[in-house]
Amino acid sequence: MKQSISMHEGVILYNFIREHNIKTVVETGIYHGTSSAFILDAIGETGHLTSIDPDLSHLIEPHRHNWTIMEARSQDVLETALKVVPDMFFHDSRHDYETMMFEYKMAYKYGVQFIGSHDINHPGIKSAWQEFINDYNIKIHYTSPKFAIGEI
Ligand SMILES: C[S@@+](CC[C@H](N)C(=O)[O-])C[C@H]1O[C@@H](n2cnc3c(N)ncnc32)[C@H](O)[C@@H]1O
Repeated sequence: MKQSISMHEGVILYNFIREHNIKTVVETGIYHGTSSAFILDAIGETGHLTSIDPDLSHLIEPHRHNWTIMEARSQDVLETALKVVPDMFFHDSRHDYETMMFEYKMAYKYGVQFIGSHDINHPGIKSAWQEFINDYNIKIHYTSPKFAIGEI
């Protein structure tokens, strides 16, 4: 089931971005644009957000000048988007093991400092997040059963 991040999670994400002076973010999974809106407010006018999603039919957040939207699957464009090496990567696209691990590893490969993820645990699905943070020694700044932010 597709679901936007909650108000509570959005506030945590917003505060984290502000506290760490994060200015550039790449995210996967736009849907209504809820996480996008929190990120855009946090990075401010001088920041830049790139968001990736193959289906924009549910987007309600109005467009802003510092927001690049890539209408595509992360598997096809994330590597290109990460070449600018944003301060933070945020995953909220397809929550299967392969997609999540692909995105996390891509952020690691390009030297992104901060990594956030929604839906880190799904009943019956091997947690890519748990494996990633263990294997890559990720420092955890915030975690709940659903949502986490770490530092690579
Ligand atoms: C949980 S929703 C995102 C919610 C959004 N972050 C928010 O807070 O409103 C998941 C989104 O991932 C998108 N998606 C599915 N597969 C994808 C892929 N391979 N790459 C990028 N986005 C994908 C879906 O189209 C959907 O809009």
